Amino acid sequence: MSELRGATIVGTGSAVPQRVITNDDLAQIVDTSDEWIKTRTGISERRIVESDVPVSELCIEAAQKALLNAKTKPEELDLIIVATITPDKIFPSTACIVQEKIGARKAAAFDLSAACTGFIYALEVANQFIVSGTYNTVLVIGAETLSKIVDWQDRSTCILFGDGAGAAVLKKAPPGKGILSTYLGADGSGADLLHVPAGGSKLPASLDTVEGKLHYIRMNGSEVFKFAVRIMAEAALKALEKCNKSKEEIDYLIPHQANIRIIEAALKRLNLSSDKVHINLQHYGNTSAASVPVALDEAVRSNKIKNGDIILLVAFGGGLTWGASVIEWYKDT
Ligand code: UT7
Repeated sequence: MSELRGATIVGTGSAVPQRVITNDDLAQIVDTSDEWIKTRTGISERRIVESDVPVSELCIEAAQKALLNAKTKPEELDLIIVATITPDKIFPSTACIVQEKIGARKAAAFDLSAACTGFIYALEVANQFIVSGTYNTVLVIGAETLSKIVDWQDRSTCILFGDGAGAAVLKKAPPGKGILSTYLGADGSGADLLHVPAGGSKLPASLDTVEGKLHYIRMNGSEVFKFAVRIMAEAALKALEKCNKSKEEIDYLIPHQANIRIIEAALKRLNLSSDKVHINLQHYGNTSAASVPVALDEAVRSNKIKNGDIILLVAFGGGLTWGASVIEWYKDT
């Protein structure tokens, strides 16, 4: 029998590429405008990696910062989970590449695929490993280079996405501290609403798939929008209910950064004021699995989160998937 214990985030880190692509830059490539993009999405610019930079490079930078903030050596890690839909290769996992590069010799490593909800799914896997007593120290990374799978001639998608990585180190905590509850969900009937058609076992890469642009993101924007508006509040309320907290008790919300209109709808449904939410999509766009951990790291670094605060993380994405975590922030300094 393992001792009764919780799990908590003891350090965060993030990395975004240097290169900035503004809305005006995109208006040079496709028929769009800064005004359309800002009013429909809230996005002003995004960060894009150079063509020879794999996602593991962003993972490593974010991981090293998180380890430093957690005062943890890479050799102490028992497990590394990388949530991504843009791995370096189909296999091996990006987590294995990160494990070697940061020198986490003792750590097991795997990737997790839950699109934009990936970080919350991975956080809960880490939580379960720690609470069960199986592992003591877990590194969770959410990272994407969506620029590599975006069709830069499709104005309905290329304006939305960006690259980045966020990481968190988790350790055990006293029961009732740290992660209080997580609610995860999925609905595979919406799998084709947001997907990359080819490159897997269903439609392996061929000349035809390349010519048909089937290796790029395809999205039914308005259907995903409707789903997102409904599910953000629903997932948040389910996670709160699981740990007997009310929405009035939320000190700070870290939502998936997809569209300002989706976040505003969630705020309204949760009756939260705009000073209780972290928004950075104007700078980075939608970075999928990186979006929540990058925002969390920014909030931590700007001292918006202190011990004892109730933090709510919530995300939705391809799959369809969704998830929310309620955390009582606890860092034993
Ligand atoms: O992590 C999950 C990822 N996905 C999402 O979160 C996406 C959720 N969906 C959305 O955020 C929104 O649906 C979009 C931002 C993608 C689109 O906004 P919308 O208000 O739903 O616009 P729409 O798709 O209904 O398009 C309205 C019009 C269309 O023209 P017509 O048919 O009315 O003449 C589009 O062709 O806007 C046009 N349009 C554009 N115009 C200028 C679409 N994209 C653009 C563009 N620039 N980039």
